[in-house]
Amino acid sequence: MLITTTEPPWWGRWREADGATILHVDLSAYAARDALAVALLDEAEQARRRRLLAARARREFALCRAALRVVLAERLGCDNSQLSFGYLEHGKPFARVDGRRAAIDFNVSHSGLHGLIAVGEHAQIGLDVEERRPRKDFEGIGSLVFSTAERQLLAAADDRSESQVFYRLWSLKEALIKAIGTGFSLAPTGIELPAAMLRGARSGEYRFAHLPAETWKLIDLGERRFAAALAYPVTLP
Ligand SMILES: CC(C)(COP(=O)(O)OP(=O)(O)OC[C@H]1O[C@@H](n2cnc3c(N)ncnc32)[C@H](O)[C@@H]1OP(=O)(O)O)[C@@H](O)C(=O)NCCC(=O)NCCS
Repeated sequence: MLITTTEPPWWGRWREADGATILHVDLSAYAARDALAVALLDEAEQARRRRLLAARARREFALCRAALRVVLAERLGCDNSQLSFGYLEHGKPFARVDGRRAAIDFNVSHSGLHGLIAVGEHAQIGLDVEERRPRKDFEGIGSLVFSTAERQLLAAADDRSESQVFYRLWSLKEALIKAIGTGFSLAPTGIELPAAMLRGARSGEYRFAHLPAETWKLIDLGERRFAAALAYPVTLP
């Protein structure tokens, strides 16, 4: 398939969730599309892309970051050249316009052919998408990241539903970790998803043990193509 500059963009609005707009990014491999994306990146981003070893990682980064740039520039009423990105302690990116932090939050996630971008007014958005790849050892991996109740849920799943359960739990947990922004420094086994969500509810509220005064909203966005989840704080002290 030939991609030209008149092709429609590789991203589009996917859904709204509680005031956040979520875009879907098509991460299929087309060299011409990659080139269009790279042209939208600034020098720091182009250098970062070049440091990524795998072609897939370079494509995920460029296609998602370019789509993010277009969407943020539209929302913030600025030009792409005015946008840059800063990074918090554990790597969570935030946007700057002319060097000043912008009053908008976003989070990006990519998995296989699917990228998702959440943009909204919430203070700390976390988003995760997981393509349900077949794996042999769901329980072994689950034992490293899931709480006791989550491991029991996974153990009770039959062969047909095991991957659904695994990726749903993983994406919900990862969305919380990405909202708070602490990455690997927070032990995922210490996060137990809300009981109602373990029973299948599509949304719930969560409190981190070390932040008891804060309530975080968690939404299951999973659909046929992938597991996905969004998290953000509803009350901050
Ligand atoms: C970045 C991190 C939070 C997620 O990485 P990942 O799952 O490989 O990747 P995702 O595609 O979901 O997200 C990557 C994007 O999140 C953003 N990001 C980077 N660091 C982040 C952080 N600390 N918090 C939130 N978002 C972050 C970036 O936009 C990044 O994309 P980009 O580099 O193309 O701009 C990583 O630190 C991590 O994997 N932590 C593991 C947490 C864990 O233990 N999970 C176990 C299962 S629950």
